[in-house]
Amino acid sequence: MKLNLKIWRQAGPNAKGRMVDYKIDGVESDMSFLEMLDLLNEKLIGKGDEPIAFDHDCREGICGMCSLFINGEAHGPDRLITTCQLHMRKFNDGDTITIEPWRANAFPVIKDLIVDRSALDRIQQAGGYISVNTSGRSVDANNIPIPKKDADMAFDAATCIGCGACVATCKNASAMLFVSAKVAQFALLPQGRVEAAKRVQDMVAAMDAEGFGSCTNTGACEVECPKGISLTNIAILNKEFLLAQTK
Ligand code: SF4
Ligand code: FES
Repeated sequence: MKLNLKIWRQAGPNAKGRMVDYKIDGVESDMSFLEMLDLLNEKLIGKGDEPIAFDHDCREGICGMCSLFINGEAHGPDRLITTCQLHMRKFNDGDTITIEPWRANAFPVIKDLIVDRSALDRIQQAGGYISVNTSGRSVDANNIPIPKKDADMAFDAATCIGCGACVATCKNASAMLFVSAKVAQFALLPQGRVEAAKRVQDMVAAMDAEGFGSCTNTGACEVECPKGISLTNIAILNKEFLLAQTK
């Protein structure tokens, strides 16, 4: 397969970036999207050119590192997968593919296709945890009865991998879907109720401080989320936030 690639190149955080055209052949339909970029980088290095910097780690849809905007869609044209799980069989010989980094003020470009997503880590550090007694006399979590529906919803929320596709997709660069998943994951369980009011207020304050935009219920985040995180979590976040104001 031969492809025309248009890729964002930016030497550093303060450098001016631009789209650069590349032609590549020898792409197999069984290759993953990242393997296609590996092949391009091998060719660039062979010519003595600077390889394209892009993020990746697990390459199996777990870590959330492979943050690429492909043909105007976060994680590309497929649904419910990350960029590393996208395969070249989704494209056709002769296609032109545009590849950009996540675009959001809170995700500054570090180099080429790599952005700094540490803002999400700081939101998580503000309250995305429960304080537990680790003295060895803590109650076994399985001793606390939890309705199956709540356990399932909490588990679904906990599948958020912090990739940031929701932010990159949102016209307001809002992090509401991410924050809602992290809040709902605990709010739905008895263990998370103890610190629920403080958690939601601290995480929303951190989200605002990082410069993410507001949610206007467009729903693009839910469409592009590789883990299918539901907008229902944003309703839970709003309810938790309002409840916290009454405490
Ligand atoms: S909510 Fe979805 S798109 Fe947003 S960070 Fe979590 S997994 Fe990624
Ligand atoms: S590289 Fe880990 S999710 Fe894609």
